[in-house]
Amino acid sequence: MTRHRLPFPATAASVLLVFCSFVCHCNSQLLPADEVDALNTIATKLKNTHWPKLTRTSCSDNDGFNGFKVTDYIKSNVTCNCSYQSHSVCHVTNIQLRGMNMTGVIPQEFGRLAYLEELDLNRNYLNGMIPTNLTQIPLVILSLTGNRISGTIPKEIANMATLEELILEDNMLGGHLDPNLGKLSRLRRLLLSANNFTGEVPASFGNLKNLTYFLIDGSSLRGKIPEFIGNWTRLSRIDMQGSGIEGPIPSSISLLKTLTQLRISDLGGPSSPFPDLKNLTKLTYLVLRNCSLTGPIPPYIGDVLADTLYTLDLSFNKLTGPIPDSLQKLKKLNFLFLTDNMLSGEVPRWVLQNRHNMDLSYNDFTASSLSTCQQSNVVTLVIRTDWCVKKDLPCPGKPQYRSLFINCGGQKHTVGDKEYLDDLSTEGPSNFVAFNEQWAYSSTGYYLDNDKVRGYTVNNPFALNVTDSVLYQTARLSPISLKYYGLCMIPGRYKVRLHFAEIQFTNDETFSSNGRRCFDVSIQGEEVLTNFNIMEAAGGAGIGIYKDFDDVLVNNTTLEIHLYWSGKGTTAIPSRGVHGPLISAITVTPNFKVGGGLSTGAIVGIVLSSVLIVLTLIAVWLKGVLCRREIKDPELLSADLLTGRFTLRQIKAATGNFSVENKIGEGGFGSVYKGLLSDGTVIAVKQLSSRSKQGNREFLNEIGMISALHHPNLVKLYGCCTEGKQLLLVYEYLENNCLARALYGKRLHQVKEAH
Ligand SMILES: *[C@@H]1O[C@H](CO)[C@@H](O)[C@H](O)[C@H]1NC(C)=O
Ligand SMILES: *[C@@H]1O[C@H](CO)[C@@H](O)[C@H](O)[C@H]1NC(C)=O
Ligand SMILES: *[C@@H]1O[C@H](CO)[C@@H](O)[C@H](O)[C@H]1NC(C)=O
Ligand SMILES: *[C@@H]1O[C@H](CO)[C@@H](O)[C@H](O)[C@H]1NC(C)=O
Ligand SMILES: *[C@@H]1O[C@H](CO)[C@@H](O)[C@H](O)[C@H]1NC(C)=O
Ligand SMILES: *[C@@H]1O[C@H](CO)[C@@H](O)[C@H](O)[C@H]1NC(C)=O
Ligand SMILES: *[C@@H]1O[C@H](CO)[C@@H](O)[C@H](O)[C@H]1NC(C)=O
Ligand SMILES: *[C@@H]1O[C@H](CO)[C@@H](O)[C@H](O)[C@H]1NC(C)=O
Ligand SMILES: *[C@@H]1O[C@H](CO)[C@@H](O)[C@H](O)[C@H]1NC(C)=O
Ligand SMILES: *[C@@H]1O[C@H](CO)[C@@H](O)[C@H](O)[C@H]1NC(C)=O
Ligand SMILES: *[C@@H]1O[C@H](CO)[C@@H](O)[C@H](O)[C@H]1NC(C)=O
Ligand SMILES: *[C@@H]1O[C@H](CO)[C@@H](O)[C@H](O)[C@H]1NC(C)=O
Repeated sequence: MTRHRLPFPATAASVLLVFCSFVCHCNSQLLPADEVDALNTIATKLKNTHWPKLTRTSCSDNDGFNGFKVTDYIKSNVTCNCSYQSHSVCHVTNIQLRGMNMTGVIPQEFGRLAYLEELDLNRNYLNGMIPTNLTQIPLVILSLTGNRISGTIPKEIANMATLEELILEDNMLGGHLDPNLGKLSRLRRLLLSANNFTGEVPASFGNLKNLTYFLIDGSSLRGKIPEFIGNWTRLSRIDMQGSGIEGPIPSSISLLKTLTQLRISDLGGPSSPFPDLKNLTKLTYLVLRNCSLTGPIPPYIGDVLADTLYTLDLSFNKLTGPIPDSLQKLKKLNFLFLTDNMLSGEVPRWVLQNRHNMDLSYNDFTASSLSTCQQSNVVTLVIRTDWCVKKDLPCPGKPQYRSLFINCGGQKHTVGDKEYLDDLSTEGPSNFVAFNEQWAYSSTGYYLDNDKVRGYTVNNPFALNVTDSVLYQTARLSPISLKYYGLCMIPGRYKVRLHFAEIQFTNDETFSSNGRRCFDVSIQGEEVLTNFNIMEAAGGAGIGIYKDFDDVLVNNTTLEIHLYWSGKGTTAIPSRGVHGPLISAITVTPNFKVGGGLSTGAIVGIVLSSVLIVLTLIAVWLKGVLCRREIKDPELLSADLLTGRFTLRQIKAATGNFSVENKIGEGGFGSVYKGLLSDGTVIAVKQLSSRSKQGNREFLNEIGMISALHHPNLVKLYGCCTEGKQLLLVYEYLENNCLARALYGKRLHQVKEAH
């Protein structure tokens, strides 16, 4: 019976249902009161004016809850699912509050939104820790990129069985990575770059077999790249730039056949050959920068990646052998960076013909007829065999400069009595530009995550109020590596002042102020600043500061200032791809000051390194044999240590008996004469005032100091003479009046940071 009557009431019910759902759409799809309450508390705490006073009908009314979008990075979007309880009840399922500049801590009340699947608070100004309340709800996506979140990742996160995306890049998190995170078996994206995690990557992470993205740039981790990454067979992208993790790259990498982006840089640990990537046939970005790779570039790269590879960056390794011809098969190759390796052979014709965005500088390619480095128009191929890319950029003409002033990224300006040269070239990804054989710069790298960033120079958007402020209005940027060269400089010691002002971040409480730019600076190959952060050093954005390096030796006519991004700091603030060195101006002046200024450390260095020599000298000298023999073997002249021995007669003959015409200088401890030895060698003789105690000490110091240093181009000490009351030092003669400077200046290669 009941069966019989079923159809009719059923139909009636469905009609009723359809009617109801129509009505409900207009009126009665309601959010539970406690969700409304939580949302209003959240809005108040975050001062989120884009959420009006919310009510139970806010989902169905759509009253501004979803109303705001400037770009994908700046938007407010709340999604409800109103299909609960026969379409009468709504729950908030997705919250995206991106680039809204909300301040304060992440409200615990998010933990009361029991149906929330996505919480995306990208690019705000939120601080404090990740509240554990978030771990009580069924979040699938938790994304907090570009805030100021600190503390550790709460261990409770490991219990969020629903979690598929944990995105915490560009925050201030730290501490160890909890092994329990390995329980997040559904995890697809684990993005942890630009924090400061420590310890090792836990072995339990080998269980995260669904990972597609693993990003861990810029941390302080340790240990080797784990073998278990081979378990991540769904991986599409791995970023490990400046993570602290050490090489070598494990052979299990060859199992990651679905990898499209492999970016590893600045690996500590031992050298290793190129990893076997034969089976990684989907790679579009292959970045293995500064990974201590040795041996040849494997030719199969050109075969297996012929249709996919877009970027190949193998710079700053120790790769040898020729550029494999097969690389010309890479149809999509847009960027090729082989900078600073030991590659040799001819540069292939196809590279020469298609030199766009290719940097081959600092290798050992054989000489060719190329002379491209002086072109400043297009992105330029650079080869070490040209004068301009020989290791030391030898001066093609006569060394003539004793100072250098560059207004990086800006116009020519006169500041005080110094004329700063303009530096306006906007050439980007790989470039070497030389100006009048006086100075040059080379820039390597491009903004991998943001093809649209074209800015290799930048203007200051702030109104600055600093001395020499005009210098800080502009800057030159590079995503990876920027080198400035002073060319044809007269050998000697210089004072280098580097000017910086952060002009890409802000000082306000918006996401743009969350940026941390970190880069390293080396002068003449010696690292003088590590993880330098301009904003931190200056106390904010838009504030000009300078760093002084008071005693830089230019011994072969070229001064090299290298700024390098080693993977640290933020990379997505204010937008993706913002990282790498920035410099506002360069001031190089000669440093001839007499005496003083040597640091204790330097003096200890001199004393230690020369103590043996000095002791030996004293012994020899006391025996009175030091200066008796004449120079027989001309090779002795160029020997490193004090092997030249001169008689007084020889020196008198060479200097015309210390004639006034030959006198070329007068210093604290005596006079300096020019002389000509019988074999044609031009010498300079320093005659110490008297055989006083002080003179003796000076004499020994000088011998010790110069002997301890090996800077042939600065000044060579050929020998000495101690006859009668005479204390004479015989030096190589340097042209261009730099002798006096060399003899009376400090003689240590000492790069000292001022304050
Ligand atoms: C809002 O979020 C939902 C869920 O993530 C998404 O489907 C929708 O496209 C977003 N709308 C806008 C305008 O971004
Ligand atoms: C809304 O929730 C219901 C019930 O949980 C679910 O079946 C449906 O797929 C959800 N709709 C959306 C768009 O997520
Ligand atoms: C967040 O969690 C803590 C501890 O579980 C609890 O005491 C607190 O009441 C929660 N906060 C909210 C707003 O629910
Ligand atoms: C891993 O991903 C696959 C495909 O997306 C899915 O079917 C599977 O359920 C996931 N595994 C876990 C443990 O979530
Ligand atoms: C990162 O953490 C380590 C260890 O706690 C600390 O020594 C280092 O200064 C931190 N680095 C930064 C940039 O905060
Ligand atoms: C990798 O996967 C294998 C097989 O599934 C498993 O036995 C091993 O424990 C995993 N390795 C790690 C380090 O988790
Ligand atoms: C690459 O794949 C082939 C075929 O699947 C396999 O035989 C070979 O061992 C793999 N090579 C490496 C290095 O994993
Ligand atoms: C290369 O990486 C090592 C290890 O992280 C680092 O010490 C070195 O400074 C890097 N090289 C350059 C050119 O910065
Ligand atoms: C610039 O700084 C000086 C000294 O710090 C101060 O006296 C002056 O008022 C400032 N000018 C502006 C425009 O802020
Ligand atoms: C947040 O601040 C940035 C500047 O840091 C600005 O560009 C952006 O428009 C602000 N967002 C909103 C929603 O006002
Ligand atoms: C200085 O540069 C020249 C020219 O490249 C080179 O021959 C010479 O060896 C260099 N001297 C030193 C000591 O580096
Ligand atoms: C120049 O100085 C560097 C660094 O001190 C040194 O390695 C190099 O051998 C020196 N070259 C000459 C010509 O003295």
